[in-house]
Amino acid sequence: MPTHQIAVFSAKSYDERFLLQASVPAIEFICHEVTLNPSTAVMAEGFEIVSAFVNDDLSRETLGTLAEGGTRLIALRCAGYNQVDLIAAHELGISVVNVPAYSPYAVAEHTIALMLALSRKIPRAYNRVRDGNFSLDGLLGFDFYQKNVGIVGGGKIGLLVAERMRAFGCEVLVYEPVNSQHCVKQGFQAIDLTTLIQQSDIISLHCPLNSDTRYLVNHDSIASMKPGVMLINTSRGALMDTRALLDGLKSKQIGYLGIDVYEQEGSLFFEDHSLDIIQDDLFQRLLTFPNVLVTGHQAYFTQEAVQHIAETTVSNVLAYLNGERLSNRVGM
Ligand code: NAI
Repeated sequence: MPTHQIAVFSAKSYDERFLLQASVPAIEFICHEVTLNPSTAVMAEGFEIVSAFVNDDLSRETLGTLAEGGTRLIALRCAGYNQVDLIAAHELGISVVNVPAYSPYAVAEHTIALMLALSRKIPRAYNRVRDGNFSLDGLLGFDFYQKNVGIVGGGKIGLLVAERMRAFGCEVLVYEPVNSQHCVKQGFQAIDLTTLIQQSDIISLHCPLNSDTRYLVNHDSIASMKPGVMLINTSRGALMDTRALLDGLKSKQIGYLGIDVYEQEGSLFFEDHSLDIIQDDLFQRLLTFPNVLVTGHQAYFTQEAVQHIAETTVSNVLAYLNGERLSNRVGM
């Protein structure tokens, strides 16, 4: 088989390293650090296969340019595909494949890390001790034991988080609209979303972003939560309305907020902006709260997960080149 070149966008040095390790002689990855969007799509001209990541813009405009340049396969290096206009891709004759699960354990473990770091105020304690300040004032935490934990979306990651919270002695409530019987079989209480929102001390989001779930956390849902609730989002930023979060934090209705994703993260995350003036005032305001912990979409970022992403991307590409059925195809 001749060597096929693949244009890889949003490729950091670590992505390139893992892709090289997973690669085979039939494939050569041409890595670009820039994101894929309507202006950069021309860089893929002549590439039948293009690989993209979570914050690439695969709108109709980008896909149109890619199709004109001869692209026929988009190999996503992530599970979520809300950034892809799947209808446009279908109309333009472009197939889309993803990496359905790289390491749900990585995301579940990071979710728990956010919960514990918030409840036990680890970032503050770390800085305080390094400064020679051993006062405990302001570090009072709470036990997870016997707290109600609401998991929104009982899929791969949600159920792993559920299992881990059960091990803390929590009462775990799961809202899972598609496969609730599976959650019940795993020994979890499957309940409706309204009850989950009202009864949970900790709410953790593990559902996909779609028209049903966009702004699932909004002014109304926050108002019906327990005062002082802990909210965690390691799924997709737009599951939460940031303005509603700010109001909830200011009124103290939200007691803790841990997010690995942010609705406007595309212009911020995965890059070093330490010397820039960040223009996103909502994001900057979030960072001013002592009870908010933000990580920059790193929940997936473990050695095992990145290796699995690279290996699955290679096998997706090989399946396409060999004319096999695309088992990880998304959309039509
Ligand atoms: P999954 O597909 O296994 O589970 C998602 C579950 O949500 C499914 O059981 C589905 O039935 C359920 N669901 C669908 N519509 C729903 C609704 N309206 N309300 C509540 N639940 C609903 O997906 P997985 O692998 O567990 O991923 C969960 C989320 O984590 C996804 O949004 C994904 O994009 C995100 N993710 C984040 C990463 C990170 O690094 N922060 C890395 C990988 C995934």
